[in-house]
Amino acid sequence: MEREQAFALLTAEQPEPHMVQHALASEAVMQRLAEHFGEDALLWGITGLLHDIDFPHTRETPEQHGVQAEAMLAGKLAPELVYAIKAHNSEYTGAEPKTRLDYALRAAETVTGLIAAAALMRPTGMEGMEVKSIKKKMKDKAFAASVSRERIRECEQAGVPLDTFLALSIEAMQGQQA
Ligand SMILES: [Fe+2]
Repeated sequence: MEREQAFALLTAEQPEPHMVQHALASEAVMQRLAEHFGEDALLWGITGLLHDIDFPHTRETPEQHGVQAEAMLAGKLAPELVYAIKAHNSEYTGAEPKTRLDYALRAAETVTGLIAAAALMRPTGMEGMEVKSIKKKMKDKAFAASVSRERIRECEQAGVPLDTFLALSIEAMQGQQA
């Protein structure tokens, strides 16, 4: 699948604008992580881009989130990419994360929420954002409380230390806005 095809698949489901933003941010972080690991940046990016493709249809049925995506993407995307998408909602789908890709997606799509929320609090947005300020936000449980810190820390299971992961994620999202 080409990147533009993936984007067309996503928008065909009519996601809300904030979900398109979330998809693009997840794509950017996944691409950056793939480069870091020497993995396929196109495929990792597409996995980030499409991970919430079924969200417009599963808002009221969280147990279907990831399951419907699997049905929508089967045959279009390599099975290991579809599995990673299902495993990003393992708490409901029961598809446990196993591979580097699985953990990377869980951490990446989650950290985008924290970084985007932090950028909103800063006059310069993403510009000049530092790892240490994001780490501080991670410790502040009241800040963006719905963002799971535990999932962000799963980057370690993907094989990248938290500080490096945050630096790569900030960099990716900065590049996305430029
Ligand atoms: Fe997501």
